[in-house]
Amino acid sequence: MSHSPVLVVADIHGNLEALEAVLDNTLGSFEEIWVLGDIAGYGPDPNLCLELLRKYNALMIGGNHDFAACGKLSIDNFNFEAKKAIQIHQSILSEEAKSFLQNLPKVIVRRSITLTHGSLENPIWGYILDNVSATQILTATQTPLTLTGHTHIPALWALTPGTGAQLLRIEYNKEFNYSSTFHLANPGSVGQSRDGIPTARYIILQPELKTILFGSCSWNREVTRKKMLKGGYPKSLINRMVPQ
Ligand SMILES: [Fe+2]
Repeated sequence: MSHSPVLVVADIHGNLEALEAVLDNTLGSFEEIWVLGDIAGYGPDPNLCLELLRKYNALMIGGNHDFAACGKLSIDNFNFEAKKAIQIHQSILSEEAKSFLQNLPKVIVRRSITLTHGSLENPIWGYILDNVSATQILTATQTPLTLTGHTHIPALWALTPGTGAQLLRIEYNKEFNYSSTFHLANPGSVGQSRDGIPTARYIILQPELKTILFGSCSWNREVTRKKMLKGGYPKSLINRMVPQ
C-alpha cells in the first residue's frame, strides 16, 4: 500500500507561473500530484501546464474548461470572457493535448478518497458553495474524504450526523485530521483565486494518516499578465487572473 504524501491542486487554468510556484513551495513534501480539473481555460499556458503535470505523472480528472477546450463540451454555457479564452485554447492546444483532455475521467476514487471537479451528481458543472450542496455530496459519497474544485474558493466541510455539513474554518499550514467523520475539502485555485487573496492554493494530503494541510503561495503575476496581454485575452480576464 502506498503511503506517499499527495499534492492536491485544482483550477490551474493555464497559469504556469502559479503552478511552478506551488511546486517550488512544496518541493520535498509530496510524492504524487492529484489534479481536480480545469487545467485549461482563462490563462496563457494550457499546453505547458499540462506538459508539466504529465511529467510528474499526475493523476488528473477533467473540469468544464478542459472538456470545452478539447471540444467535448459546448462553449455555449460559458460567459463571454471564458468563451473567448476557450476559443484561444482551442487554437493553441496541440492535437495530442486535446485528445489527452478528452479522455480525462470525471470522478476517480483513489486511496479511499473521491476526486471530482464539481458535485458527484454533476461533476462538470455542480458548485459546492453552501452547507446544502455540501450535505448532498457528503451523504452520497462512499469515502471518508471527498475532494472537489470548481469554485476557486478553499473550503472544508465536516458531516455532522443529524445536522448535515458544517463549514469549518481553514487554518493554513496546520495539519487537520479528518478521521472523525466524513469531510469534503476544496483546495481553492492555483491559477485564479476568487476569495480576494491573490495567492495560489493547494493541499498536502496524507491519506493513510488522514491528514490534510492547506497551503498558499505567491507567484509572479507580472509575467502572467504580460503573456495574457500578448495572447489577446480579454482585459477583464487579465484582471481576474492577475488581481492587482
Ligand atoms: Fe475553474
